[in-house]
Amino acid sequence: MEYASLGSTGLKVSRIGLGAWQFSEAWGVTDYSVAREIVRASLDSGVNLIDTAMVYGRGLSEEFVGRAIRDLGVKRDDVVIATKIPGDFLAYDDVFRATDNSLRRLGVDYIDLMQVHWPPCWHNHPTCEYMRALERLIVLGKVGYIGLSDFPVELVDAARACLARYDVEVIQVRYNIVERQAEKELIPYAEENGMSVLAWSPLAKGAVLGKYSLEEAEKLQDVRGGDPLFKPQNYKQILELSEKLKQIASKYGKTPAQIALNWLLGYSDTVIPIPGAKSPEQARENAGAAGWRLSYEDWRALDEASKKLKITYVTW
Ligand SMILES: NC(=O)c1ccc[n+]([C@@H]2O[C@H](COP(=O)([O-])OP(=O)(O)OC[C@H]3O[C@@H](n4cnc5c(N)ncnc54)[C@H](OP(=O)(O)O)[C@@H]3O)[C@@H](O)[C@H]2O)c1
Repeated sequence: MEYASLGSTGLKVSRIGLGAWQFSEAWGVTDYSVAREIVRASLDSGVNLIDTAMVYGRGLSEEFVGRAIRDLGVKRDDVVIATKIPGDFLAYDDVFRATDNSLRRLGVDYIDLMQVHWPPCWHNHPTCEYMRALERLIVLGKVGYIGLSDFPVELVDAARACLARYDVEVIQVRYNIVERQAEKELIPYAEENGMSVLAWSPLAKGAVLGKYSLEEAEKLQDVRGGDPLFKPQNYKQILELSEKLKQIASKYGKTPAQIALNWLLGYSDTVIPIPGAKSPEQARENAGAAGWRLSYEDWRALDEASKKLKITYVTW
């Protein structure tokens, strides 16, 4: 495993994290013992960053993460817990209430990284109101650092301007080898400002791995049911890219997932993919994506292949 500083904090985090949305009905890991083994496999492979959220299973994911850490006897300082407060809970007092609930579900005294999950869009919560509440939680010792998820750069700027003593250390954004919009604004912004980019859906929810046929992809019933990437007009193209990933994987003695994640690591040293895993095997495999690099030529070949894709989100 290789490690990086979380933003400018100096806190050491693994270049591959573990996404814990899988611990919910959405993805189907609702058996605690499976979740615990996934966490164990990740930690044993050097992963020390776990990304969860209040909305994942309405608290189930946070409960499983906290319980697994306790049951596995992990020292609190040896794991970096990142969670997220939904865009609906951003009234000043609600930020405290929601954080209290999160602390209780996780069973910890403090949360290393509290991210705003998405900007408030259904309520007019002023940006400075919730940012100052988060800053107060740092002062009070309940939150270590602040992150923003699914925020455009203009709003990141606005949010940072509200803070008096601390800064935003993390931007979390969708980023994978077929969905590269983050390269336009957010990654350059993070590079300029010393922030980390937590890349969510770094495997495009498994689409890039080519493990589902066109017919199977269309029939997936979980969170991927309505996902545009799995619709034939997109998925057909992605299957072609996955063939390239498979070829390169066999050359390196790696798996397609490891190649897809390593490609992201190569793009920018700010990027920290947080793949979700449904089994300990997947977790171990994903952790094995760090600690080595694709050659420049292979990185470029994948870059070219991915740039040929014409992904559309207009599927109906
Ligand atoms: N901030 C946000 O708005 C936001 C949004 C989405 C996700 N996230 C975070 O990002 C994390 C990851 O994103 P994601 O769950 O959307 O998708 P992902 O990490 O791109 O894909 C995860 C899925 O790919 C498959 N997979 C994973 N590793 C594999 C391997 N080594 N070999 C074969 N298949 C493998 C598994 O599904 P199957 O085995 O069923 O194919 C797994 O559930 C989440 O857990 C969450 O923490 C954040």
